[in-house]
Amino acid sequence: MLDLSRREFLLGSAGTAAAFAVGGVAASHAAAADHALTLANLDHRIMPDAVTKNMMSFSPDGPPPVLRFRQGQKTSVDVTNNLDEASVVHWHGFRIANAMDGVPYLTQYPIEAGQSFRYEFTPPDAGTYWYHPHCNTLEQMARGLTGVMVVEEDEDPGFDHDLPLNIRDFRLGGDRQFTSLFKPRSAARSGTLGTVSTVNWETDPVFELEAGSLVRLRLAITDVTRVGTYDIAGGEARVIAIDSNPLPEPLPATDILLSPGQRADVALRVPDSEDDVVNLVLKRSNGNRVVARFKPKGASAKRDLRELRPLPQNPVKLPDLNNAEVMEFVFGWSPEGDAPQSSLCGTLGYTFWSINRKAWPGDLPGPFDPLATMKLGKSYILRLRNETPNDHPIHLHGVSFQLLRSNKRKLPPLITDTALLQKEETMDVALVADNPGDWAFHCHVIEHQKTGLAGFLRIDG
Ligand code: C2O
Ligand code: CU
Ligand code: CU
Repeated sequence: MLDLSRREFLLGSAGTAAAFAVGGVAASHAAAADHALTLANLDHRIMPDAVTKNMMSFSPDGPPPVLRFRQGQKTSVDVTNNLDEASVVHWHGFRIANAMDGVPYLTQYPIEAGQSFRYEFTPPDAGTYWYHPHCNTLEQMARGLTGVMVVEEDEDPGFDHDLPLNIRDFRLGGDRQFTSLFKPRSAARSGTLGTVSTVNWETDPVFELEAGSLVRLRLAITDVTRVGTYDIAGGEARVIAIDSNPLPEPLPATDILLSPGQRADVALRVPDSEDDVVNLVLKRSNGNRVVARFKPKGASAKRDLRELRPLPQNPVKLPDLNNAEVMEFVFGWSPEGDAPQSSLCGTLGYTFWSINRKAWPGDLPGPFDPLATMKLGKSYILRLRNETPNDHPIHLHGVSFQLLRSNKRKLPPLITDTALLQKEETMDVALVADNPGDWAFHCHVIEHQKTGLAGFLRIDG
C-alpha cells in the first residue's frame, strides 16, 4: 500500500496534480471546522429483525448526518477517513472551486485510510443536494456512504418543518447481510438493483408531522442504480424544485421521475386528521410500493400552501443560445478495450461503456485528456446522444445546465446537474462555462460510471 501510494504521488505530481490543495495538512493544525464527517465501518439495523454487518457511514454511530449550510456563506468540513481503504468526498451539485470537488487525481489525491482532508467552500445556490465518495464508489455507496445536504435560502420561504429523505436501496440477502454488490451481466445493461427499499436507512418508516402544517419534503435519490417514479399520495402536495433549482411553476406531486443523483423538493400540506396518512409511493412495473408514510399528529395548524413564498431562483447564468458552440457526446458501448487497471480507488474489473468511443480507464493518476475543452465565460450546447438501449442519468460536476430539447419527448424546463438520458434519446442541454477547472462528467448509474461511462470536461480559466 505504501509503495503504491508513493508511486501514485510521483506520477501525479508529474502531471496536473502539482497544484492540489493539501487539505489534510490544514485539518491537523487549524481550529475546528464548521462540520466534521468520519468515514467509518459499522453494523446497523436496517431491517427490524437483524443487524446488517459491514456497512459504511459518514459517522461511526449511525446513518449519514444531514449537512446544513447557508447560501453564500463560507463553510468548512473536516473529513476523517477511518475506513480500511482510500476515499474522497464529493458534494453533488455544488458549483464550488474545482480543488474542493472531491474527485481522485482530477482535483485531489485520495484520502488514504487514517488520513483527513479539510474541504472549504461557499455554496452559491440554495436547495437540496447530497454527498458521496468518488473512490471505490460502487462499493462505498452500496454499503451506505450517501448523505443529504441542505443549503438554506437567504430568505425563509415559510415552512413549518423540513424533512430530508435519503431514498435508496440496499442489496441484502435473506440473512439481511450484503450480497454481491453488482452482477457484471447487469452492469452491462441497466445496472444491478438493490433488494431492500429504504428512506433514511429504515424500511417503510413512519414520520409524524404536525397536522395541518406546511412541510418541505426533500427527496434525494442516492441509490447507485434505480431510476424511479414517485407519487405523494394523500394530502395536498406540489413539486417546487428539481435538482435544487426552483421550478417556474409548481408541478403536481405525482409521477415524479427521478434518476440516481436527482432531488425533488415537495411542498406538503399535512392533512388535518390523524387518520389521513400520506404515502410516498415508488411505482414499479411489478406493483407500487409505499416506501415511507407521513402521519398527521395533534391539532391542525390550519396552514395553507398559498402562504408559502416562492423559492428565489439560484444565480445560475443562462446561456446565450445564439452564440453557443455545439459539442457532441456519444454515450455508447465500449470498443474492444483493455481490462481496467487496478487503482487505489478500486475497479469492477470490466469495461462495458464509453463516451465518444473512449472508455474511462479508471480512477488513476493520469494525466488524461478532457473529452472537450470550453472557454471560461462562453456558452455551449452539449448534444448528448445515447446510442444504447439503456437509460443513463448524465451528471456534470461544477456547473449547472439547462435542458433544451429532445428527439423523443417534451422536456421539463429544468436547470440541473443530472439529466436522465433515456434509451436512444438525443438531448440538447446548454450551459455557461463559468467555473474553471476539470469537471467530472459521467453516468450516475455507478456500475456504468465504473465500467467506462465517465470522463471530464475542462473549462480553461
Ligand atoms: Cu454525484 Cu461525480 O457524482
Ligand atoms: Cu457530482
Ligand atoms: Cu449509464
